[in-house]
Amino acid sequence: MSTASDNLILVTGGQGQLASSLKTLGGSRVVVVGRPEFDLAAPETMAATLARYTPSLVVNAAAWTAVDLAESEVGGATAANETGPAELARLCAAQGIPLIHVSTDYVYAGDKGTAYVETDPVTPQTVYGRTKAAGEQAVLKAQPRSVVLRTAWVYSGHCKNFVRTMVNAGAKNTHLKVVGDQYGCPTNADDLAKAILGIVDQIKAGWQDRFAGIYHACGTGDTSWHGLAVAALEEATRHGQTMPVEVAAIRTEDWPTPAKRPQDSRLDCSKLERVFGIRLPEWRDGVARAVDEHFASKPA
Ligand SMILES: NC(=O)c1ccc[n+]([C@@H]2O[C@H](COP(=O)([O-])OP(=O)(O)OC[C@H]3O[C@@H](n4cnc5c(N)ncnc54)[C@H](OP(=O)(O)O)[C@@H]3O)[C@@H](O)[C@H]2O)c1
Repeated sequence: MSTASDNLILVTGGQGQLASSLKTLGGSRVVVVGRPEFDLAAPETMAATLARYTPSLVVNAAAWTAVDLAESEVGGATAANETGPAELARLCAAQGIPLIHVSTDYVYAGDKGTAYVETDPVTPQTVYGRTKAAGEQAVLKAQPRSVVLRTAWVYSGHCKNFVRTMVNAGAKNTHLKVVGDQYGCPTNADDLAKAILGIVDQIKAGWQDRFAGIYHACGTGDTSWHGLAVAALEEATRHGQTMPVEVAAIRTEDWPTPAKRPQDSRLDCSKLERVFGIRLPEWRDGVARAVDEHFASKPA
């Protein structure tokens, strides 16, 4: 009979940006699984993965993150973001494995006017947001020993993300247009991974029921997509890239998307600091590090 491996942390999310950061920063105690070995849409693969690795803790960093595509692919988004995590949480509960599950600021409409706190009611406006909000509740119901982390605007120096897209666009274009009237808290995937590993250490020291529940976990400070783009492009100049002649701030209505983004999804992360003593670095510092990594990994 297998027993939980003392130190093994199972991370879902394959080649995703948060899973990659957890792999790099967690070292040998982290095993990352992805499709097809582990598929949130195929319950038998989840049971087989837990049986194979017998982890002492699971971090679910896998999700349907294609926000616009989710509007037309409701079944896939629901499986990855709601029913799959529910089944994973059920399996974890049955085997006494605590679960850290990652969620999103898109559970909010973005019309509060100040930073959201965890006790604010969720008001998702999109399929992605609705399935993630339902997933949070399903996870907490199925495995009371769960920590749900709502993060936002995740970027890194690896994988495909907004910061890298802007740096690449700035290398090819003299004029860029970026939405300037949506606000949020950009989060470096490495910083989030470090925060998660800090929570893992505290859970491993002994589960406490006060850990259970929802937390906001984002980079410190806030900006607009335009502010984030300008920061990334400014950091790129340290690597010899020329600043575009113009980076224009445009309005949401001038950049229509199938899924409506929250206008202002700033998240108050003080609960994370109160309970776990963890505060993520300033988002601007994270951008500098991500851009450095981007240029270090770029083929010559
Ligand atoms: N990226 C953001 O800006 C952002 C913002 C707020 C919250 N979040 C949350 O943060 C977490 C991590 O996001 P991320 O930025 O690392 O996303 P990501 O880079 O898109 O990675 C997501 C990973 O999930 C995997 N996945 C998708 N469907 C799956 C399924 N049915 N079964 C198993 N794996 C599946 C994908 O695998 P494949 O490669 O096989 O497709 C991908 O590797 C997610 O919970 C996301 O909702 C992200």
